[in-house]
Amino acid sequence: MALPVFLLLCFLLSIVVIFILIRASRRRLLRLPPGNLGLPFVGETLQLISAYKTENPEPFIDERVSRFGPLFTTHVFGEPTVFSADPEVNRFILQNEGKLFDCSYPGSISNLLGKHSLLLMKGSLHKRMHSLTMSFGNSSIIKDHLLVDIDRLIRLNLDSWSDRVLLMEEAKTITFNLTVKQLMSYDPCEWTERLRKEYVLVIEGFFTLPSRLFSPTYSRAITARTKVAEALNLVVRRRRKEAVAISEGGGEKQNDMLAALLADDDGFSDEQIVDFLLALLVAGYETTSTIMTLAVKFLTETPLALAQLKEEHEGIRAKKSNNTEALEWSDYKSMPFTQCVINETLRVANIIGGIFRRAITNVPVKGYTIPKGWQVFASFRAVHLNLDHYKDARSFNPWRWQNKPVPTISGNVFMPFGGGPRLCPGYEIARVILSVFLHRIVTRYSWVPAEEDKLVFFPTTRTQKRYPIKVRRLNCDQAM
Ligand code: HEM
Ligand SMILES: *[C@@H]1O[C@H](CO)[C@@H](O)[C@H](O)[C@H]1NC(C)=O
Ligand SMILES: *[C@@H]1O[C@H](CO)[C@@H](O)[C@H](O)[C@H]1NC(C)=O
Ligand SMILES: *[C@@H]1O[C@H](CO)[C@@H](O)[C@H](O)[C@H]1NC(C)=O
Ligand SMILES: *[C@@H]1O[C@H](CO)[C@@H](O)[C@H](O)[C@H]1NC(C)=O
Repeated sequence: MALPVFLLLCFLLSIVVIFILIRASRRRLLRLPPGNLGLPFVGETLQLISAYKTENPEPFIDERVSRFGPLFTTHVFGEPTVFSADPEVNRFILQNEGKLFDCSYPGSISNLLGKHSLLLMKGSLHKRMHSLTMSFGNSSIIKDHLLVDIDRLIRLNLDSWSDRVLLMEEAKTITFNLTVKQLMSYDPCEWTERLRKEYVLVIEGFFTLPSRLFSPTYSRAITARTKVAEALNLVVRRRRKEAVAISEGGGEKQNDMLAALLADDDGFSDEQIVDFLLALLVAGYETTSTIMTLAVKFLTETPLALAQLKEEHEGIRAKKSNNTEALEWSDYKSMPFTQCVINETLRVANIIGGIFRRAITNVPVKGYTIPKGWQVFASFRAVHLNLDHYKDARSFNPWRWQNKPVPTISGNVFMPFGGGPRLCPGYEIARVILSVFLHRIVTRYSWVPAEEDKLVFFPTTRTQKRYPIKVRRLNCDQAM
C-alpha cells in the first residue's frame, strides 16, 4: 500500500475513534437517554424518511421505543435530538416553554412566516401576543360574533356542491375564506380569491427544499409571500385610517382580529401586524381543513358512527323552520356525539404529530439529561397511538370518548392542540368549524367515495388523492 494512502487511512480511523470516544464520554458525563446517533452528520435521518414510506403511522418512533423506552436519543435533520413518546415528559416540555425550552424553527420557515410571526416570537412579547390571540378566539367571541359567519360561509360553500367534489380542496377554501373573514372582515370576493392563489404558493414553500437556488417552488413561495404581505399591508393601512375616523365619531367599528391589533395600547407596526395575520392564516389552514376531510373519511368507513352522528344532527335540524336557519350556540352545545367524533379524529390522525423545541440549559428528566442546545421532539402522535394509553389505539372508535370519565383519557395522553404557553389559540374555533361543517354536510348530503383514497402520514398527514366524493343532495323530507 502506498504510504500516503496508509496515512490517510490512519488519519480517518483516528477521527472515527476520537468521535466515538467524545461521544461516549459525553454520554457518561451527562447520562443521555439511550439511543443511537447513527452516522456522523446524517445521523438517522435516512432511516426516519424511509420508515415513513410505509403505511404504519409511527414506524421510526415505534421501533426505537421498543428498543430504548419512551425517551431516546437520535440524530435527525442535522442535529442530535431527544425524542419523547412519554406523556409526562411531553407535558413537562410544553409547560416549561421559555424557561427550560424554546421554540426552534429552521431559517427557511422564518423567511416564509416573517420575523414577527407569533410562531417565532419569544419572551414577554410572545406572552402578550399569545394572550391577545387567545382572547380573540375565546368562546364568548365565537358565540357572539364568529359563529354566524362560520355557519353562513360553510352553507354558502356546501350550496355550490354537485356530483363530484374534492373534499380536501373544498375544506381548504372554506377554512381560508373563514379566516380572512375573522381576521379582517372580508367576505369572499375577487380580492380574497387572488389573495388565496398567492397564499397557496406560500404554503407549498413549507414542504420543499428550502433553497431559492435549487427549488423553484421555494423561490416562488418567497415571491408569493411578498405579494401577500403587500396586499395585507394595504388593508392594514386603510384600516388604520378608518380607525382614526371611527375614534373621531365616523364610520362603523369592525369586530375582528385586525381591530384588536390596531386598538392595542402599545401600538404595533404595520409590518408586525402583517406577519401576525399571515401566521394566523398559516396556522389554521392545513390543520383545520385536514381534520374536516379526515373526519368525513373515517365516518364514511364507520357507518354506525355516521348513522349516530346523522341522528344527532337531524334532531337539531328538526327544531328549525327551514334548511337555512342559522345554528345557535345552544345547538353547538348540544352535539355530544359530534365532539366524540372530533376528538377521535384528532387522536387517530393528529396532523401536528409533535413539536420541536430546543433546550436552553441542561435539563434533567427522568434520571437523564437533555444537554443544553439540543433539539427535543415531543411526539403527541406516539402517545395518541400507544396501546398502553388507548385500547385498540389504531382504530377509529368515537364511542371510546362516551363513557366518561374514562381514567385513561386524561389531559396528559390527549393533547392535539399542544399546551402550556403555546397552546393553540384556535382550538375552540377549530372545534366549532368542524361541528358546524359536520352538521351541514350530514343534513344536506349523502355521499360515497368517488375513488379509493389512502391515508398517509409523511411528510404530513393527509389522503393521497384529496378525498374525492360523489355527493347527492338530500331533499328536505329526507333531512327531517
Ligand atoms: C384542527 C385544527 C388545529 C390543530 C390540530 C392545531 C394544533 C396546534 C398545535 C399543536 C399548536 C402548538 C404548536 C407549538 O407548541 O409549537 C398550535 C399552535 C398555534 N395554532 Fe393551532 N391548531 C389548529 C387550528 C388552528 C386555528 C383554526 C388557528 C387560528 C385561527 C390556529 C392558530 C394557531 C397559532 C397562532 C398557534 C401558535 C401559538 C404560539 O406559538 O403561541 N390553530 N396549533
Ligand atoms: C374573552 O375575551 C374578551 C376580551 O377579548 C373578554 O372580555 C371575555 O371575558 C373573555 N371571555 C372568556 C370566556 O374568557
Ligand atoms: C371563497 O371565496 C371565493 C372567492 O374569493 C369564492 O369563489 C368561493 O366560493 C368561496 N368559498 C366559500 C367556502 O365561501
Ligand atoms: C328560514 O327561516 C328563517 C327563520 O324562521 C327565516 O328568517 C328565513 O327567511 C327562512 N328562509 C327561507 C329560505 O325560507
Ligand atoms: C375532547 O377533548 C377535550 C380535550 O382536548 C376534552 O376537554 C373534552 O372533554 C373531550 N370531549 C369528549 C366528548 O370527550
